[in-house]
Amino acid sequence: KAIYLNDYREPDFRIDTTELTFALEEDSTLVSSKLVMQRNQNAENNAALVLHGQELELLSVSVDGKLLAPEQYEVGEETLTIATLPERFVLEIQNRIYPHKNTALEGLYRSGGMYCTQCEAEGFRRITYYLDRPDVMSVFTTHIIADAEKYPVMLSNGNLIDEQQLDGKRKVSWHDPHKKPAYLFALVAGDLLCSSDEFVTMSGRKVDLRIFVEPQNIDKTEYALDALKRSMRWDEEVYGREYDLDIFMIVAVDDFNMGAMENKGLNIFNSSCVLANPATATDAAYQRIEAIVAHEYFHNWSGNRVTCRDWFQLSLKEGFTVFRDASFSADMHSATVKRIEDANIMRTVQFAEDGGPMAHPVQPDSFIEISNFYTVTIYEKGAEVVGMIRKILGTEGFRKGSDLYFERHDGQAVTIYDFVAAMEDANGVDLTLFKRWYKQAGTPRVSAESVYDAAAQTLTLTLRQMCPDTPGQTGKLPMWIPVQLGLIGGDGQDMAVNVEPASAWTADSQVLHLTEAEQTFVFHGVTEQPVLSLFRDFSAPVKVECEQSNEELLFLLQNDSDGFNRWDAGQRLMLNWIRSAADSQFELTDDARNAFASLLADESLDPAMVSYLLTLPSEAYIAEFSDVVDPAAIHKARKAVQLALAESLQAEFIACYQRLRSDASYQPVAADMAARSLKNLALSYWVKADASGLQQAERQYTAADNMTDQMAALVATVNSGDRAQAQTLLDRFYAQWSGDALVVNQWLSVQAGSAEMGTADYIRSLLQHPAFDWRNPNKVRSVIGAFANQALVHFHATDGSGYELLADAVLRLNEANPQIASRLLGPLTKWKRLVPAQSQLMKAQLERIMAQGNLSKDVYEVVSKSLI
Ligand code: ARG
Ligand code: ZN
Repeated sequence: KAIYLNDYREPDFRIDTTELTFALEEDSTLVSSKLVMQRNQNAENNAALVLHGQELELLSVSVDGKLLAPEQYEVGEETLTIATLPERFVLEIQNRIYPHKNTALEGLYRSGGMYCTQCEAEGFRRITYYLDRPDVMSVFTTHIIADAEKYPVMLSNGNLIDEQQLDGKRKVSWHDPHKKPAYLFALVAGDLLCSSDEFVTMSGRKVDLRIFVEPQNIDKTEYALDALKRSMRWDEEVYGREYDLDIFMIVAVDDFNMGAMENKGLNIFNSSCVLANPATATDAAYQRIEAIVAHEYFHNWSGNRVTCRDWFQLSLKEGFTVFRDASFSADMHSATVKRIEDANIMRTVQFAEDGGPMAHPVQPDSFIEISNFYTVTIYEKGAEVVGMIRKILGTEGFRKGSDLYFERHDGQAVTIYDFVAAMEDANGVDLTLFKRWYKQAGTPRVSAESVYDAAAQTLTLTLRQMCPDTPGQTGKLPMWIPVQLGLIGGDGQDMAVNVEPASAWTADSQVLHLTEAEQTFVFHGVTEQPVLSLFRDFSAPVKVECEQSNEELLFLLQNDSDGFNRWDAGQRLMLNWIRSAADSQFELTDDARNAFASLLADESLDPAMVSYLLTLPSEAYIAEFSDVVDPAAIHKARKAVQLALAESLQAEFIACYQRLRSDASYQPVAADMAARSLKNLALSYWVKADASGLQQAERQYTAADNMTDQMAALVATVNSGDRAQAQTLLDRFYAQWSGDALVVNQWLSVQAGSAEMGTADYIRSLLQHPAFDWRNPNKVRSVIGAFANQALVHFHATDGSGYELLADAVLRLNEANPQIASRLLGPLTKWKRLVPAQSQLMKAQLERIMAQGNLSKDVYEVVSKSLI
């Protein structure tokens, strides 16, 4: 059942051109394909052709114009095999598919009134028989025939080359001159409107930009178009990458398993990741849209022009592209804030994955279902690994490496090690040791011990690393860990130091290279006892163990020149508070109170950063920093600290709120977003402190001309604990927005994810609400996903009701949409980390799922691995 990287073999055949004709009929689609193929040089002379196919109704097969008799081919469960074939041949296949019945949302399916596709990773085989693997690249021509009235818009990859009226029907033809694997194929047909713009590339070519949406959404396309143009310019400026077709299209669809897909020249987006206007989308949504538009656009080079040899190389394109979109977002907003957000995801979600049963390396060795490997490890840890290469090589060296990579591999399907080799060759460095990051799963732990010698003016720093065992991997070797650091003197300034051994220190970037299990470094010229600031800028995705007192943490919070480590020190301090508040009250020291008060009042600081400095670690974050997770205790302790902050800084929060209020009309620009984030954080604390906060929240709710402020007021009210007022605003909100699905999804998730509301019973009532629909992944995520990932105290209810609810949802979706069912399972797989009573209840639900017959590959893989 499992597939292994070690079993990789080059394909026996290639497909030079692919010509597809889709006749979209009333309730089925007729697919005709014409493949110009040849046997590869290296292939055995008599190797049979084995095509992939799933849920296809095969009508006919012919080779070089001659119809094959049924005994000349063999149809298996998921294959079509033709044993005897010449060296070169034209293969023609006709088959029928049923998009209306496709609830898995892979291959060709219906969303609302339109047709759309999702082919990555292995969805193309649900369209027609094909060599559905990324190292088979072909030039595609696509014809679409459909009712002219119902489907005025018919799109595929590349350029439009022909259009014809047939009686009542229309036929359009698209041609994509760039060779691509089948996973990048796309088709869209529907009654859509489009917003257009244009972009002139660095070499002066004009590119048409279009965003297609259902008519009611035409007022939500402006921001994505703007983000697209900025992405195109940025990729030219920062990576020297130019767009390569005459047209670039984005289509928004409501039913979509993931965020978006980088199909060549025709990106398809989950509507929640592209549509926005000020009244309906929050600042967070705007930033997500900007990042995802950039991500998919950047894939045109990192993914499409240079693609993956096989799916074990997924991080080649995803890790690199996430790294690229993160750098873009850092340039558009605040680099420090972006780093904080990324570290937060690594520490809460990715470290948890590394510590659980699905732990896998950035380049996995095996999988049962590739869809299960679109993970935070492949994406976010993969991006961190690329980021460490940049830390090691420096910005210029990294650019040389990426230039060589794109030049050397344009038009090829390659491996992660080809990427590393380009980085090595362009810089004359040896990254052999570094490559362990790709093959060893788990989060390394680094401990630090330092001794100061006042007489010698030296600081001796000993760093030790170890990486815990993960399923199937023991005895890991030391990694190459870049430790960016500073030694801070009493004046708050970094000291100028020399390091021994000098070879382990890059002075320009203040990076120490830890490459062994244990290493000792001596810093010279240390004129006073310093405060250590380690892993600045989150320079490596590791867990750090370094004893520092609350006084030292407070000092770092106030003085570190590295914004990321100011935040990190604050989080560590707050974690200490939360631990100490376990079953008692909590009170801030005067020093701490004054430090936070001065941050709140300091107008020279970026308000977005201050907002993060004052945000408590989430319950999931706290859980990741606990040996045994007790969700009820975490919830209680965190609340005590939150209340203490709210009460002791009440005057400062109110002053900050009043200072940042603005009557200017809403703009989705960085400075305004930053101000709103701090203002709304202040409101959330104010609401906790005193009834006047709740009144202010209602005033803000009523006056808001934008969703950011309206939603912040709603969330603050829901989380205030005043159930009556919460219900009043929730009802007003629904009455106003019941016609807008994306806004209703936010309404669902505010309730489902709230510790004040989201009990299992309440979730079951939301599932009955007319706004809910099991067939729509966004709604499932808004309710079940928000519940299991955010309302932790209810998901982990002591009677097990939360786990049962999640298992019910998984079983309900197992057959209809295996990808979504499998993704929902995440929180249950962490069962071994919980206190014993909870742990047993979670395991029981996994066993209940396991006991069902007919588990999809997706669900089977996650549940069976979780129970080992
Ligand atoms: N390549 C897409 C992206 O990251 C994700 C598509 C994932 N699709 C899937 N069925 N797992 O941009
Ligand atoms: Zn991607």
